[in-house]
Amino acid sequence: MKYMGSKRSMLKNGLGDLLLEQAVLFDRFVDLFAGGGFVSWFVAERIAKPVLAVDLQKYSTILCEAVISRTESLDADALNKEWIAEAKRKRNASYLWKKAKHFSNEAIEIRTFVDQARILCETKSLIGPIWNAYGGHYFSPTQAITFDYLLDNLPDKKEERILCLAACIATASECVASPGHTAQPFQPTKGAGKYILESWRRDPLERCKNNLGFLCPKFAKVPGCVITADAQNVISQLNSRDLVFIDPPYSGVQYSRFYHVLETIARCNKQISVSGVGRYPSLVERPQSKFSNISQAKDALKLILKGIAEKGSTIIFTFPSGDSSNGLSGDYIKAVASEWFQVEDKNTIEGQFSSLGGNNGNRKARNKSSELILLLRPKSVSV
Ligand SMILES: C[S@@+](CC[C@H](N)C(=O)[O-])C[C@H]1O[C@@H](n2cnc3c(N)ncnc32)[C@H](O)[C@@H]1O
Repeated sequence: MKYMGSKRSMLKNGLGDLLLEQAVLFDRFVDLFAGGGFVSWFVAERIAKPVLAVDLQKYSTILCEAVISRTESLDADALNKEWIAEAKRKRNASYLWKKAKHFSNEAIEIRTFVDQARILCETKSLIGPIWNAYGGHYFSPTQAITFDYLLDNLPDKKEERILCLAACIATASECVASPGHTAQPFQPTKGAGKYILESWRRDPLERCKNNLGFLCPKFAKVPGCVITADAQNVISQLNSRDLVFIDPPYSGVQYSRFYHVLETIARCNKQISVSGVGRYPSLVERPQSKFSNISQAKDALKLILKGIAEKGSTIIFTFPSGDSSNGLSGDYIKAVASEWFQVEDKNTIEGQFSSLGGNNGNRKARNKSSELILLLRPKSVSV
């Protein structure tokens, strides 16, 4: 799945080698801002050291847990039968599915089509949160009811349940009708209407099956675990035998604004209330990060670096080298870190970064940038 600030491509580009070379020297690898989980997966699959993945958002820790907590492959065909086929069977017998299926006629003007989809999805559903909250907005009625049946039929066994939930999260991010993330759905205008139709044609069951096929064979060499929390609150659990990876937000806009649909899926509540064009849950349901707040990010950075230095952990830190919209920059991070750490500038990687909402139609979806990789060794402890 695509994730804002993901390090997936950098793993093949110098970051991966550094992580592996350093991780073997420590007892544990801690990914404090785990995001899409690519870094946690990468280390857990290759090195026999436990990985601890932390993020404010539950969808992130579910994605991580689906791989890093498991030490054996799972059977994708069995899960497909036990879960996807069962969800499909129940969905196909349901009243809302029949209504949604009957409705799926795109041969009308896009605004009317979308308006009718929204009206249909106001019909009360107790199956899951997606139909009422996001049907006709981020998902077509048939997609929305399919997600609800997938969530309602997750396996009971924890390992399988987490993996299937991760497959749902990845599938939702592939199907969602919004520009790159889930901050705002596409609206049925002349320009954006075609993107809605394109997204709404994607089949969640097929994609979920593919995501199961991708996730099932991925597992850790030794079991790891996850914590859904503010990274600052996890610092007390660190020690000098930890290698900590820090890849904090670079934007002054909260991740929970962009990924609330995935968070709703991860939380698996039966019902949620949403409002506005973006169909946001209330602010209390959307985790707020000091790192995504321009007036708090600098203090948050100082606090976390000081705390980790006191614990004697070593850090690999990545961040865009220029100025970021949350007020942090590569130079600022180096200057602050040098108070407590010996700062080694390992590499600067040219990359592309999300412009947060561009879709190539309105503005560029990705901008060129370069990203620093710093190795920070605590001045007080030598490993
Ligand atoms: C740049 S992304 C990480 C990307 C990740 N390394 C990857 O490759 O997918 C930053 C992540 O930090 C998380 N985050 C923001 N503030 C946080 C905090 N205070 N504690 C823990 N996680 C936080 C966000 O939810 C987001 O997932």
